[in-house]
Amino acid sequence: MGMKFDEIKEMEEKYQLGTYRKLSLAVARGEGVYVWDTEGKRYLDLYGGHAVALVGHCHPRVVKAVSDQVKTLVFYSNVVYSEVRALASKAIVEVAPSSMDRVFFCNSGAEANETALKIARRFTGKTRVVAMKEGFHGRTIGALSATALGHYRSDFIPVLDAFDFIPFGDAGALESAVSDQTAAVMLEPVQSMAGVEIADDGYYKKLRRISSAHGALLIFDEIQTGFGRTGEWFFGDRIGVVPDLITLAKGIGGGLPLGAVLIDKRVSKTIGYGEHGSTFGGGPVAASALFATIQAIREDKLLENARDTGEYLKTELQKIGIVKAVKGRGLLLGIEITKKASDCRDRLLERGIITGTSAKPDVLRLLPPLVLTPDEAKPFIEALTEYGEG
Ligand SMILES: Cc1ncc(COP(=O)(O)O)c(C=O)c1O
Repeated sequence: MGMKFDEIKEMEEKYQLGTYRKLSLAVARGEGVYVWDTEGKRYLDLYGGHAVALVGHCHPRVVKAVSDQVKTLVFYSNVVYSEVRALASKAIVEVAPSSMDRVFFCNSGAEANETALKIARRFTGKTRVVAMKEGFHGRTIGALSATALGHYRSDFIPVLDAFDFIPFGDAGALESAVSDQTAAVMLEPVQSMAGVEIADDGYYKKLRRISSAHGALLIFDEIQTGFGRTGEWFFGDRIGVVPDLITLAKGIGGGLPLGAVLIDKRVSKTIGYGEHGSTFGGGPVAASALFATIQAIREDKLLENARDTGEYLKTELQKIGIVKAVKGRGLLLGIEITKKASDCRDRLLERGIITGTSAKPDVLRLLPPLVLTPDEAKPFIEALTEYGEG
């Protein structure tokens, strides 16, 4: 350890497959809403390591749980029982909507979505899926086939021909697209990569009604919105809309790779041995991290904090000249600006603030840890104001 940034960059570029465009820093450590690079510079992380640092970097509860578990047992698969998996399963089902009684563990968002698609096909005996234009669900072939956004899909045509795409937010289009051949309606309740697009409450209620009327399962991909990001455990909680399957990943493992699918009772009872599996899913270390993350969200009152800091940011951002609109809810925010979002992100980075972009060139995206306070967020408001005036 102790390599300089230029050496790290050169080595990584030489040996890692070149699929990622990276920001020009190597992150060495993190704590709460901050990370430090290899040269010792501190950054306010409003991107949360790709929405993963949900409870903050190196949350003490997660660090302790994982450290204790690693010293005890690193791994054993689902071929045996595990106390920590039992506790984590109970904890996640207890925060889920009451109509859901089981969880399936995997390792990533794409895998969670693959699982949900398999379950919907198995349960309904049908194969067609209605998904949304501009939606993003992952890069494996099934999840990619459900993804309509930009080059992710178009670079790999042909993909599976089982998906019908409709505009997000248009209940009329859903009514026309869903048929008795539809196994599932699948969407991100907030289209994040598409630029943080959110619909009105009535739309989600119609989604539920139309899916049920045709016997199709409703799948919410809550890989970005779940576990408190929008100020509730799950997106539909505030408006009483409960899907049949919820897919999760990103921050649920406190930074460790973990994906999950929460499953409605009617569906879970029909699934039997051998119908799905994952070697690493729900391993002891990931399960210990999940259990600690749930406790951290509860004890640190992170749902409330996401709502409060989200409101603070919305109010302050709307006062800034270059800000045209602020979209999203809680701590998933899309800031539409009058300048190019990637230029803005680069300037903010120079000032020690990490933000994200989206598929819309004028939308800057924030996915900060839910522990972010207004005081910690203030330097971002100041920096964006100055950038707008510059
Ligand atoms: C909404 C959504 N679904 C699925 C995925 C895929 O998750 P993963 O990269 O863990 O496979 C992502 C990742 O960005 C996502 O944002």
